[in-house]
Amino acid sequence: MMLLEVERLSLRFGGLEVIRDLSFAVPAGTIASFIGPNGAGKTSLFNLITGFYRPTAGEIRFAGERITGLPPSAVARRGLARTFQNIRLFKTLSALENVLSALHPRTRSGVFAALFRTPGMRREEAWAREEARRALAFVGLQDVADRSAGTLPYGHRRLLEIARAIALRPKLLLLDEPAAGLNPAEKAALADLIRRIRDELEIGVILIEHDMRLVANVSEHVVALSYGEKIAEGPPADVLRHPKVVEAYLGEEAVG
Ligand SMILES: Nc1ncnc2c1ncn2[C@@H]1O[C@H](COP(=O)(O)OP(=O)(O)O)[C@@H](O)[C@H]1O
Ligand SMILES: [Mg+2]
Repeated sequence: MMLLEVERLSLRFGGLEVIRDLSFAVPAGTIASFIGPNGAGKTSLFNLITGFYRPTAGEIRFAGERITGLPPSAVARRGLARTFQNIRLFKTLSALENVLSALHPRTRSGVFAALFRTPGMRREEAWAREEARRALAFVGLQDVADRSAGTLPYGHRRLLEIARAIALRPKLLLLDEPAAGLNPAEKAALADLIRRIRDELEIGVILIEHDMRLVANVSEHVVALSYGEKIAEGPPADVLRHPKVVEAYLGEEAVG
């Protein structure tokens, strides 16, 4: 079964074609990577998949269902979660509160219950705290749950973003450059975490990544973009040495 299918997708901003006639498919239970030089359209593709951008043409199917043009909240409800290239956290809130804030869409009590703190509301709050703690523990941040996010080291903030996303228990997690700014030891730990997310939580993962060693290490499927077009797709061993991919990266930082 294909978890994500993209068919003849295009995105245009004025005269700029950001994504051009793009088609690919990611099977369920896969760790996949989107690669390509800066400006290739990788983040825009995440924005299209998650409903932040509306495509100019084409179709996106998630778990067999058409999600093209749905707003981000509707896409999220169907089981798609993401992190951002630039970390987006509430700096003054604790790590735990940051995860709790992500869980809001999963709690049902409305404003009324919040005002009067009904028993149902209290049960829901206890449930949310439990879920949030579980997500923090999964990424290894249980000991800093009460520290404010702004005081956490950079690597921990990246992990906290992932905790916020997995707390939603999505079917598919999109990670935009999760290894950016991490040291080699943190990158190795991230690779393990990504595998555990897939194996233990049974969440499919797509990452946008520049570190080709990490891409080769964790992904089973790679889609390579250049100027908004697919230039290669397949297993990392083939895609990373594809002549068009090598060429696209010439003049960029070493492919590694
Ligand atoms: N909202 C937008 N409006 C105009 N141009 C955009 C917008 N979003 C992305 N782009 C353009 O799309 C191209 C691809 O950007 P992006 O998807 O961020 O690439 P990548 O993530 O591969 O580095 C760039 O030229 C960028 O300026
Ligand atoms: Mg990007």
